[in-house]
Amino acid sequence: MSEKSLSPKDESRRKLLTATAYSAAGIGAACAILPFIDSMNPSSDVQALASTEVDISNIKAGEEKKVMWRGKPVSIRRRTKAEIDEANAVDIKELRDPQTDAERVKAGKEEWLVTIEICTHLGCIPIMGQGDYKGWFCPCHGSQYDTSARIRKGPAPRNLEIPPYEFVGDTKIKIG
Ligand code: FES
Repeated sequence: MSEKSLSPKDESRRKLLTATAYSAAGIGAACAILPFIDSMNPSSDVQALASTEVDISNIKAGEEKKVMWRGKPVSIRRRTKAEIDEANAVDIKELRDPQTDAERVKAGKEEWLVTIEICTHLGCIPIMGQGDYKGWFCPCHGSQYDTSARIRKGPAPRNLEIPPYEFVGDTKIKIG
């Protein structure tokens, strides 16, 4: 059976029809995928958990408030002047994870230290105000942190992590 050859006009029509069919299929596929992509966006309640506002007005100097943020314990510690002075008196060349105190707090708000209270060794929860440096002491393997939550002794490799946060008023911070 011989194949009928197409005229140049028929050939260009065939190409146009093929291109149109592919375009329609592409648009259809995109429309079918869109609801799934949209369903992958975090819902409003999940977005709310991404950040949390904390009233810090009732935290006394020398005390901390613990909150949960994204499933992690966060300490908001109101440091005394002595604790801030101690943190600033440290020669950072001696530190395992060198950071100045100023790098770990907000300028003008030095009394507030916000840290994720998870030991950087193996993830235990260290205790505030304990240990040789009166910062944090981890009861699991003895890591000790100073009043800037920098690692000073024991097996932990890094300082306690500072989460992203900002002041949204004199007595309120937003973490996340
Ligand atoms: S988990 Fe803190 S010292 Fe090991």
